[in-house]
Amino acid sequence: MELEQRMSVLITGAGSGIGRALAVALAKKGTSISVLDIVEKNALETLEMVKQEYEKLQVEDKPSTICIRCDVAKPDEVSSAFEQHIAVFKSLDICINCAGVAHTSDFIDDEQGLWRRLVDVNLNGTIECSRLEIKAMKSLGKPGCIINFASALGLYPAPCAPIYAASKAGVVMLTRSLVNLRSEGIRVNVVCPEFVDTPMGNLLPVTMIDAADGFIPMEKVINGVFELIEDESKAGCCLWITQRHGVKYWPCSEQEQTYSDETICIFGS
Ligand SMILES: NC(=O)c1ccc[n+]([C@@H]2O[C@H](COP(=O)([O-])OP(=O)(O)OC[C@H]3O[C@@H](n4cnc5c(N)ncnc54)[C@H](O)[C@@H]3O)[C@@H](O)[C@H]2O)c1
Repeated sequence: MELEQRMSVLITGAGSGIGRALAVALAKKGTSISVLDIVEKNALETLEMVKQEYEKLQVEDKPSTICIRCDVAKPDEVSSAFEQHIAVFKSLDICINCAGVAHTSDFIDDEQGLWRRLVDVNLNGTIECSRLEIKAMKSLGKPGCIINFASALGLYPAPCAPIYAASKAGVVMLTRSLVNLRSEGIRVNVVCPEFVDTPMGNLLPVTMIDAADGFIPMEKVINGVFELIEDESKAGCCLWITQRHGVKYWPCSEQEQTYSDETICIFGS
C-alpha cells in the first residue's frame, strides 16, 4: 500500500512519544489524521504539529486533521471515535494502535488492581480498536492496514514487568492470529521495539537501557511502521526492533517454517 495523500489514518496514543512521532511523519506524507489520546491537551498539541506539517506541503488540496479525546479501555468512547473519523474522512485506510501504559509495580501486593487497568488499556483496548477497525474496513470495502504496538517485552520473559509483558504478548498473538484477513485486503501487523526515548521509555532505569545498548532512534521505529504499511506481503508479521540485533521479523522465516504450515492447517480456519 503506497502512502498517498487523501488516505486517512487513525492513531491512538498520539498525544505523546511514538504515536506523536508517527502522526508528524504521516502528516509529512499528506495523509489526513485523527489524533486520539486520553489526555486531550497532549492530543491538541500533536494536532498543532500535524497542521504545521500540512502548511509545508506544496499541494492545493491540504489534508485535514481532527483531535478526539478517547480512552481506549472504554468501548463506547472507542466506538464513538471511529464514528467521528468515518463521518469526517469517509474512509479508514490505516490505523495505528499505539496507546499504552507501563508500570513495574509488584502485582502480587497490588490490592488496588492497577494491573487490571494495564491489561484493559494495552490488551483489551488494542483488541477493541482492532475489532472496530476491521469491521469498519470490511464495511467500507477498501484495503486497509492496521499496526499494533506491542513490545520486545512481549516476546521474551520480563521478570521486571510481568503484567506489561503478558499484555504485550497478547497483542503479538492477537496480531499474528489475524493473518488470514489478508485475503480480504486487511493487513494487521505488530511492532515490538525494545526501548525508545519517550516519556514511557524514560520510566525505566538507566542501567536497563544501557544494558540494551541504549534507546532505539525514533526514526528506526517510524521506518519499521512505514515498511509494514507499504510492503503488501506483510500480514500477521511481528517486527522486532532492538539496538543489539537491528530490525528483524520474529520469528525468523527458518523458525517459522518448523511449525507454520502445520499449525495454520490445524488452527487456521
Ligand atoms: N517507549 C518504549 O520504550 C516502548 C518500547 C516498546 C513498546 N512501546 C509501546 O509503544 C506504545 C507507545 O509508547 P510511548 O513510548 O510512545 O509512550 P508514551 O507514554 O510517550 O505515549 C503513550 C500515549 O498513550 C496514551 N494513553 C495511555 N492510556 C491511554 C488510554 N487508555 N486511551 C488512550 N490513550 C492512552 C498516553 O496519554 C500517551 O499519550 C505503547 O503501546 C508502548 O507500550 C514503547
